[in-house]
Amino acid sequence: MADSTKIESHLNEDRKFPPAEAFAKQARIPSMKRYKELYDQSIADPEAFWAAEASELHWQKKWDTVLEWDAPFAKWFVGGKLNVSESCVDHHLQGARKDKKAIIWEGEPGEVRTLTYQELHKEVCRFANALKANGVKVGDRVIIYMPMVPEAAIAMLACARIGAVHSVVFGGFSAESIKDRIEDSGATAVITADGGFRRGGVVALKANVDEALTKVETIQKVIVLERTKNEVAMVEGRDVWWHDAVADVSTDCPAEAFDSEHPLFILYTSGSTGKPKGIMHTSGGYLTGTYATSKYIFDLREDDVYWCTADVGWITGHSYIVYGPLANGASILMYEGAPNWPEPDRFWQLVEKHRATILYTAPTAIRAFIKWGDEHVDKHDLSSLRLLGTVGEPINPEAWMWYHEKIGGGRCPIVDTWWQTETGAIMLTPLPGATPTKPGTATLPFFGVDAAILDEEGNEVGPNEGGKLVIRKPWPSMLRTIYGDEGRYKETYWGEYEGIYLAGDGARRDEDGYFWIVGRLDDVLNVSGHRLGTAEIESALVSHESVAEAAAVGRPDEIKGQGVVAFVTLKEGYDAGPELRDTLRAHVGKVIGAIAKPDVIRFTEALPKTRSGKIMRRLLKEICSGSGAISGDTTTLEDFSVVASLQAGEDE
Ligand code: PRX
Repeated sequence: MADSTKIESHLNEDRKFPPAEAFAKQARIPSMKRYKELYDQSIADPEAFWAAEASELHWQKKWDTVLEWDAPFAKWFVGGKLNVSESCVDHHLQGARKDKKAIIWEGEPGEVRTLTYQELHKEVCRFANALKANGVKVGDRVIIYMPMVPEAAIAMLACARIGAVHSVVFGGFSAESIKDRIEDSGATAVITADGGFRRGGVVALKANVDEALTKVETIQKVIVLERTKNEVAMVEGRDVWWHDAVADVSTDCPAEAFDSEHPLFILYTSGSTGKPKGIMHTSGGYLTGTYATSKYIFDLREDDVYWCTADVGWITGHSYIVYGPLANGASILMYEGAPNWPEPDRFWQLVEKHRATILYTAPTAIRAFIKWGDEHVDKHDLSSLRLLGTVGEPINPEAWMWYHEKIGGGRCPIVDTWWQTETGAIMLTPLPGATPTKPGTATLPFFGVDAAILDEEGNEVGPNEGGKLVIRKPWPSMLRTIYGDEGRYKETYWGEYEGIYLAGDGARRDEDGYFWIVGRLDDVLNVSGHRLGTAEIESALVSHESVAEAAAVGRPDEIKGQGVVAFVTLKEGYDAGPELRDTLRAHVGKVIGAIAKPDVIRFTEALPKTRSGKIMRRLLKEICSGSGAISGDTTTLEDFSVVASLQAGEDE
């Protein structure tokens, strides 16, 4: 763990952008005065705030109690019954929204498909019946490993409809990662596709599933969507084509009512050990959180074309492509492929073609666009855009300014949203018609969110003092546990301060009370807005026959935010060299997925360790960032010559 007393921030940002008057005038929350009023009320009585939001959703039975809080275990809307897919889809079939586009999808090769709410309803019901016909029951865990196609959302909603618990695995993850998630969740079915299009090629999803399934035994059915028509092996009795599975089933699938606390999904994310955590979210509270945040933060209007560029494999895709926007009856733009395929202007082409009004993306993407050059943006008419958002990591003020001017034409508010897989919904954010924004900060807490920054003793720190970001009151979309590991849930999030949620981020508040995220407190990296545990990368390296020991650290990266540097000591008899470097990078790609591949692998005779044998990652971090000078305390270091030789680059 990094020493949080050393959290410092040297950013000094004094540019401030009040919301444009035209935007504020028509916004739900049109002023800071109104935000403060509502925020104060929501903190004085969070249950009243959340209950009012929840009552805008469709419930089959209203709850008896808003919150039962037996720290750290929360139950929201206890006694309430709903069907999440019904609230997201059927609920909009009464009036004009029936024929409104729910999903506007564009594949990487360029084909466009739209589904109205009514059509989406039909597809969800059919697939829900297909799942049932293939033996999927209430409470069963189902892995979804899909490209970004409408069927990914349909599969999620169909699971929700029949009370099965989905666990979406990002399509960039490896067979090994799928296997781990199946094992941990005890899943019985997999929904996948023959492949997905990415940068003109085909990602062989089904082949990865097949490889994973050679090592696990719980999976009984694999449903395979035909997307790319590449050849795949189908195992008799186990594998079924999606189109065959839905061919003979009814389009009528009544929405059974489930308890508000019925599990909706498990999503795996990295922590500070080698084993990803299965973050568990439930139904009524999660939907309330994603619904309310989508409504206020994107200030959704009936005619918006809302585009969140995340993949459904991440929490952003769950909360802000599928559940939050659909609960609001929004039109969602969904894109399958890479932002620079066939040319680096693809995103801007999509905005222009589909007249997107809201764009929610990640700082890493924005940095890549800047690098690719303004000419790709200049070719397109982006005047449809009225609101921009970012998520995933702190945004550099320069990237923020470019986004504001170049993409937003200076007129669109930017909502920099801080949240986590665990929080389920956005926690810190500007409200676009109210909050004056400053480049680089997620500004202020959303309604009902009691965020603070504490020191080691649990005292709130003063302005511009660093500390640990916490949430002091439960909120409806909070994780309920780590699947199968209550101990880790308690220890990771609630172990530091009694009854207070520890986010794992270091932060400070400025003189306006705005929150600035400084970075993670644990051994978790943020690569292109995605969390990677250093321990996971190390385990992957050590699982290769040549590796004796490995340490992974992050170093600043212009595009990705952080890149991975791995220090590796080899077993006797293996030759350090470029060939082995390539082999090890490929090996990490195979064990975890391409995003975890180290940018640099440095072979070394030994790793710097404390006298008790702990690897001193802090020193390695200093060696590979900036000047390479060691500034911290090295008195516990066992052998300084190790550091000296690494500094001298003798390993390279
Ligand atoms: O460190 C924070 C960073 O991303 C972490 C959460 O990662 P994950 O669970 O993968 O979810 C990402 C998408 C919600 C946080 O602990 N982070 C996320 N958003 C921001 C951020 N850091 C600074 N500013 C943000 N807006």
